[in-house]
Amino acid sequence: MDVPAVKIAPSLLSADFVNLARDVAAVEAAGADWLHVDVMDGHFVPNLTIGLPVVKALKRTATRPLDVHIMISNPSEFAGRYVEAGADVLTCHLETFAAGGGGPETLAAVRDAGGRAGLSVNPETDVAPVRDLLDHCDMVLIMSVHPGFGGQKFMPEVLPKIEALRSWGFAGDIEIDGGITPDTIGDAAAAGANVFVSGSGVFKSDDWAGTIATMRATAESRLAAAGLQTA
Ligand code: DX5
Ligand code: ZN
Repeated sequence: MDVPAVKIAPSLLSADFVNLARDVAAVEAAGADWLHVDVMDGHFVPNLTIGLPVVKALKRTATRPLDVHIMISNPSEFAGRYVEAGADVLTCHLETFAAGGGGPETLAAVRDAGGRAGLSVNPETDVAPVRDLLDHCDMVLIMSVHPGFGGQKFMPEVLPKIEALRSWGFAGDIEIDGGITPDTIGDAAAAGANVFVSGSGVFKSDDWAGTIATMRATAESRLAAAGLQTA
């Protein structure tokens, strides 16, 4: 199967918020493909981070696509607004759909606003319901930690979800988020992931460019070994 190119998406949650523009420029120079932005509402997840004004500000300084991950209970109210604020990819959570906070129309709203639509599942959430929603998705995000905080340990038990998505013929972007480092990225790629969020893995390393280059090379070789050709 042909899959889209490998993308390394450092999570700005681990950047220095006092010097966000400086860290964005530095991580872009170090080879970041996308910038991952974690929006948390203190309700869907037990943490509060940033919102629309910061996404708007990032858009003024970033030269790479903004990959905005909204961990909020009511994505239907906000998804389109994040795209208008500058999100190139906007990912909301499947868990909110059952609770009425979002639905396929939320994904449609992202596309209507000119964004790429992503759908995420938490570690304990079954991926099977995503199958019927794939036509609405440009990307699926598999959480490999319980969302809310950076710096947690990678959960390899979520990897069969990625294999399932590829076995259903999904040839779009599959992103994995949580605990991705040069040590864990290979198994995620072997399962079929091609977009890799890494917060502490990049920002806490001494050599951002070297870490990103190592992660990219490992991901590309493990994808190829798994029979997945990248564009
Ligand atoms: C967790 C966030 C992640 C987080 C990843 O809820 O969605 O994007 O920043 O951080 P690391 O890579 O440190 O696990
Ligand atoms: Zn995230």
